Amino acid sequence: MKIEGQAALVTGGGSGLGEATARELARLGAKVAVLDVNLEGAQRVAKDIGGVACKCDVTDTESVQAALDAAAAAHGPARILMNIAGIGTAKRVVQKDGSAAPLEDFAKVINVNLIGTYNASRLFAAACAKLDALEDGERGVMLFTASVAAFDGQVGQQAYSASKGGLVGMTLPMARDLAQHGIRVCTIAPGLFSTPLMRQLPEPVQASLAASIPFPSRLGKPEEFASLAAHIVTNTHLNGEVIRLDGALRMAPR
Ligand SMILES: NC(=O)c1ccc[n+]([C@@H]2O[C@H](COP(=O)([O-])OP(=O)(O)OC[C@H]3O[C@@H](n4cnc5c(N)ncnc54)[C@H](O)[C@@H]3O)[C@@H](O)[C@H]2O)c1
Repeated sequence: MKIEGQAALVTGGGSGLGEATARELARLGAKVAVLDVNLEGAQRVAKDIGGVACKCDVTDTESVQAALDAAAAAHGPARILMNIAGIGTAKRVVQKDGSAAPLEDFAKVINVNLIGTYNASRLFAAACAKLDALEDGERGVMLFTASVAAFDGQVGQQAYSASKGGLVGMTLPMARDLAQHGIRVCTIAPGLFSTPLMRQLPEPVQASLAASIPFPSRLGKPEEFASLAAHIVTNTHLNGEVIRLDGALRMAPR
């Protein structure tokens, strides 16, 4: 699909990989709605790129529908959905005091990363399926953001890895399901990227993480993620696939 002139939605667009993707799509001529639970972040990015900011919690159906409607009112119906919103925590199954890890912590990560992505995707797909078909019968494209932790999760990453593994597992059935509507689904599984989250870590920790990446031995740049996300939009034959973007990194147990 040609990006220029299309309306695009970017969840988690107020920071990090989502911000870089919102900026890249706007640079390539898309009309971008920045959806984020953090309205200030969304507004900062939207202002910079001439897009619209929508406060949106991907786990809340009313909130997502309101954001989709607001974005459509500003830009027309969207054909591109970039699901990039996500959270991450690490927690040992058996805590230091011997107690079991709280179930709510596990459920929260699954709720935002997996159920939130499905929530935004199903509402987007229902709207997108009603649009006229473009070349090849294509109507839309959506991205899931997994993680290499879906495959080689580290100690304590049970919830995060399960949520991202869920996205990996959902990619093909979703692509097959939506094929009849001409909507493609692809997933990027990033390795270690330099985002505000990562930059909070002490410099030596960042350096040691970077050194664990075979080549290039540095953290990924958010622009590299954004460039692949944009490529997925433009390459109509990419569908139902999970792409690792990780410099050949395979995470160690800890
Ligand atoms: N940075 C990395 O190295 C890395 C590696 C693998 C995967 N990822 C994934 O990439 C995505 C982006 O990560 P990042 O590093 O840019 O993080 P980030 O914290 O910089 O950005 C995440 C954004 O998502 C938003 N968000 C959180 N919960 C939300 C909700 N319920 N509804 C709407 N928005 C919500 C946050 O407000 C924030 O703006 C996440 O899904 C993360 O799991 C990141």
